[in-house]
Formats: sequence, C-alpha cells, structure tokens
Amino acid sequence: MPIMKILSKNPEETIRLGKKLGKMIVAGAMHQTVHGGQVLALYGDLGGGKTQFTKGIALGLGISDNIVSPTFTIRREYSGKKLNLLHYDFYRFEKPDQELVENLDEGISPENVTVIEWAERVEKYLPKDTIKINFKYISEGVREIEIEDNNLEAILSAVIPTDYT
Ligand SMILES: Nc1ncnc2c1ncn2[C@@H]1O[C@H](COP(=O)(O)OP(=O)(O)OP(=O)(O)O)[C@@H](O)[C@H]1O
Ligand SMILES: [Mg+2]
Repeated sequence: MPIMKILSKNPEETIRLGKKLGKMIVAGAMHQTVHGGQVLALYGDLGGGKTQFTKGIALGLGISDNIVSPTFTIRREYSGKKLNLLHYDFYRFEKPDQELVENLDEGISPENVTVIEWAERVEKYLPKDTIKINFKYISEGVREIEIEDNNLEAILSAVIPTDYT
C-alpha cells in the first residue's frame, strides 16, 4: 500500500492533522475508507507525537476533554458528539492477554473510533481496514508522519500548512 509522508514542524501541526482526520471520520467523508468503527493504529518513536495526534482526533470528534495516555488502564473513553473515542496505549502490554484482546474487539463498533498507540503489540488483532500511521522523530520540533494511503492523500495534503483552524 502506498505511504504518504507529512513533515510536521511543531506539535500544533500534528494536532491539526489529527483533527482533520477526526472530522473526516465524523463527516463520513470517505465512506468505506473512514467511518465509525474505524481503527487508527499508531506506531513509532517514544515522543513521536502519537498522543498529540490523538488529541487532534479528539478535537475532530468534538471532544474537549484533556487527552492523557491510558498508561495504567487498558483504555480511556471519551464521549463525542456523534462518535466516541476509545484510546489505547499498549506500551506496557508487550504480550496482550485475552482480556485485553476482548476489550479491544468489543470496542470496535460503529459508534466508536479506536485509536491505538504502540499498535505493533496487537498487530494481528487489527481489522483489515485499519489506518496505520507511523511517527518518526526527526529533530526537536520536527516529526515525520507516514500514513498508509487509503485515498486519504488528497484531503490530508490540504491540511498542512494551510488549515490553521
Ligand atoms: N512536530 C511535532 N509533533 C508532535 N509532537 C511534537 C512535535 N515537535 C515536538 N513535539 C513534542 O514531542 C512530544 C510528543 O509527545 P507524545 O506524547 O505525543 O509522543 P508519543 O508518540 O505519544 O510518545 P509515547 O510513545 O511515549 O506515548 C510532545 O512533548 C510534543 O510537544
Ligand atoms: Mg503517547
């Protein structure tokens, strides 16, 4: 699958990218491509911007709660206007047990958007149409964000640097 690369030059750009994607999911703009029940799998460096990006997704879903990583719990849930956000971070779960896999499975439904940090830990449990996003540390303020292209390119390429909302 082709990969699109975006250079984010500060945390706000990363948040904005997430927000745009969140909005697209709510709008159902891409029908079979993004939708409720969508899973977003986030990979890559510590401090790569996965949680920042998730903050953006939340904003795009109309969620104004502060997003903090679910470090000591399996997941955090936030109610959105149309879709809810289920946020996972599997950094501490190298080998997911059955409870965790069931929890993940049960959350994937049309009213939820599932975001998974350290998704490589649950790679084999991800749905086929998962959108995979990799975060690479380039330098202090710069990150390279790679998105496995599901026809998202046209919309997302418009996000940076023009959309400052
Ligand atoms: N362009 C950028 N995009 C995102 N974050 C950036 C950027 N430049 C600097 N940062 C900083 O990098 C850090 C990213 O942290 P964040 O918690 O989002 O990373 P993470 O990928 O979730 O890490 P972890 O694997 O520990 O969960 C933040 O402190 C943020 O301010
Ligand atoms: Mg994080």
